[in-house]
Amino acid sequence: MPVSDGVTTDAWERLSGRYDRQLWLERCAVGTALDLLAATADERTLDVGTGTGEVLRQLASRPARPREAIGVDTSPAMLARVGALPACWSVQVADARALPFADAEFDVASASYLLQVVADADRALVLAELRRVLRPGGRLVTVTPAIPDAGLARRLARVFDQLAARRPDRYGGLRALDPRVALPPEGFTVMEARWNVRGYPSLCVLARRL
Ligand SMILES: C[S@@+](CC[C@H](N)C(=O)[O-])C[C@H]1O[C@@H](n2cnc3c(N)ncnc32)[C@H](O)[C@@H]1O
Repeated sequence: MPVSDGVTTDAWERLSGRYDRQLWLERCAVGTALDLLAATADERTLDVGTGTGEVLRQLASRPARPREAIGVDTSPAMLARVGALPACWSVQVADARALPFADAEFDVASASYLLQVVADADRALVLAELRRVLRPGGRLVTVTPAIPDAGLARRLARVFDQLAARRPDRYGGLRALDPRVALPPEGFTVMEARWNVRGYPSLCVLARRL
């Protein structure tokens, strides 16, 4: 896989106006990830790289939704599109590489379509920050575009991945990444992984913070 410098905040500022047009392609995978995470009402929740708020919206519509949730993103223009949230839920501009939260502040966290857009050199930093702000035993769920072993979805995922390599400023979000190798060195145990091929071929991974 070629080394990636990541997608810049400027690119997300530019893409923000049309980002929601493709949300239908990620909706099922986000739902699968939230099933895996199974956050409960008393679990304080963090969503990093929250974008226009797809994870928060889906989480808010669940019967056992957490009482407190925070979404962070480096792009103010993406966050401006999040819309109304339940009481005690909020979003703020923050960088996943240096989260403005105390150690062990959260019970659960999600990173939906974030890990593949940060620079390769920064991924460990993001995971280390997620580990720091999660309590021991806390859970993290990730969603990333990924390349399944076989089938039409594999061919589709490869086309997306090539597009991402050719035009990272526009399609960098489609870069394929399997995070299962990167998680253990940063202090996470991989608990479960589920593929979702309805929409972007994506891998949802549930991990526990050691
Ligand atoms: C592909 S979008 C995913 C948005 C949302 N999670 C979703 O599933 O629709 C990636 C998001 O990550 C944000 N992002 C990129 N690098 C970041 C960083 N270092 N810290 C926080 N957010 C970041 C971008 O601004 C963008 O909103």
